[in-house]
Amino acid sequence: MRDLKEIIANKLCDMDLGIEKSAIYKLIEIPPRDDMGDFSFPCFSLAKTLRKNPALIAKEIKEKLEKEEKTYFEKIENLNAYLNFYIDRKFIQNEVLNEILEKKEDYGRSNMGEGKTIVLDFSSVNIAKPFHIGHIRSTVIGDAIRNIFNFLGYKTVASNYIGDYGTQFGTMIAAYKLWGDDDKLNENPIKELLNLYVRYNNEAALNEEMMDVARDEFKKLEEGEDESVRLWSWFKEISFKEFDRVYKLLDIDFDNYDGESYHSEFIPAVIKELEEKNLLVESDGAKIIDLGEDDLPPAIIIKSNGSSAYITRDIATAINRKKVYDFYENLYVVATQQNLHFRQLWKILELMGYDFYKDCKHIPFGMVSLKDKTLSTRKGQVVFLEDVLNKAINKTKEIMKNRDTDIEDIDKTSRIVGIGAVKFQELYNNRIKDYVFDWDELLNFEGETGPYVQYTYARAKAVLRKAGVVEMTSMDFSLLNSDEEFILIKSLRSFEDTIVKARDRYEPSLISRKIMEISQNFNKFYNSSKIMVDDENLKNQRLALALATSIVIKVGLSLLGIKTVEKM
Ligand code: ARG
Repeated sequence: MRDLKEIIANKLCDMDLGIEKSAIYKLIEIPPRDDMGDFSFPCFSLAKTLRKNPALIAKEIKEKLEKEEKTYFEKIENLNAYLNFYIDRKFIQNEVLNEILEKKEDYGRSNMGEGKTIVLDFSSVNIAKPFHIGHIRSTVIGDAIRNIFNFLGYKTVASNYIGDYGTQFGTMIAAYKLWGDDDKLNENPIKELLNLYVRYNNEAALNEEMMDVARDEFKKLEEGEDESVRLWSWFKEISFKEFDRVYKLLDIDFDNYDGESYHSEFIPAVIKELEEKNLLVESDGAKIIDLGEDDLPPAIIIKSNGSSAYITRDIATAINRKKVYDFYENLYVVATQQNLHFRQLWKILELMGYDFYKDCKHIPFGMVSLKDKTLSTRKGQVVFLEDVLNKAINKTKEIMKNRDTDIEDIDKTSRIVGIGAVKFQELYNNRIKDYVFDWDELLNFEGETGPYVQYTYARAKAVLRKAGVVEMTSMDFSLLNSDEEFILIKSLRSFEDTIVKARDRYEPSLISRKIMEISQNFNKFYNSSKIMVDDENLKNQRLALALATSIVIKVGLSLLGIKTVEKM
């Protein structure tokens, strides 16, 4: 589609206003109210170059533009220091709707990322620990970002960097050796492992020696001692059974599960390299990298007992990923709490001389809390994600049963709508914001929720079904004259741009907000204009608008990892 801002910028640039086209382009705004036009250009910054009152400048430009032919624009007005541009509705309507009808579910797709590989480290759950509601953020946000990049033609590598190494495994093994009960473990693996872990941490808080025992157990694992490796592999196996169930419910998959232990094989080479580059210094028996010059705390690379650390494994991982994938960007979708960790990581890569540190990015997000509970594994107060997802499905089913619908498969529908509701809520706010998980809000069919959007989609599809429409070809939309229709079409038009912005900012909420806006605009249109009118032409044009809306909602939801249902 034509970039109308570009067209305006060109027009203004031709008038010798004394500022660059790119600067003009940046100044063009979308006015706060629809009756103020579709784009506006503030003339304040021209006051300097033209040495005139900005309102006068606006007036003069308007008069000049008036004389030119006005393709794309119906009228141009000046209001104080602003020039307001009103787009030619007919032109826009035809352009947008016909493009959607033609491209269908490829509307908005592009190949701008061709030849570029994006590695995305997300979900990255920890073995032998529950998949709790705190992990949902990384999982769902990471998946949406992956979908957005894919849609724009990038090749993506979804990496679930499993936390399957480190002192906590020493803790788990030490606890198992003290109190492990195989029957209990086989019956309820993760809950029981968690109990062991929590009990050990509680007792170790009063007994420093127990922490040393745990650290030694991890050391033995790193050295490949049989019994340690056997227990660790078993913990991994039972953990994965649970993870797989959750990923299946969420309908999210990964290209690899190369986690911490996988990459630890590259650690010796990294240590050697760090030594050769004179970056390691001794400190209390440990080996550290001093980052004081960059105002960062030192990074412990080798602990005093000889074990590697979390950051050591991340250094090895980043270098390995560059070798294997030659990534364009290497993104880590991880909670804000790890900010410092990543700043240290980039700095170390830079000190090692790896320029690609600039292409590694932390995509942070805020915390989830439940209305009155905090979530922490150590204290053992966990809300299991699997329980939350199943509850969402069941609650949705209850609501569905009380609705007057002709749904054929209520189980399947509740699953799609219920899981969709959880994902949508997750993706509706700026990712950096902390948010409170709230059941009432989540499933409110009239609120700003997933079910509301899905219901809007089903409503559009119901109209089309009744009219017997499956597909429509291009037409002239000259009869769509109402403001509701135009506003809806404008929001469909901006969908394309929104996808690119969401990529630029790694921000799926831009897409969820856009499809919410489209849904609300559709419902306003639906309530104000009858679709099945006697006039065949008008009826067809309105049906095509409903079809286009349903296509865009479907594409938008699929970018968020949410499926649609035809009836609801
Ligand atoms: N497993 C870690 C956690 O749950 C997150 C790992 C993030 N990825 C990374 N490469 N450090 O906190």
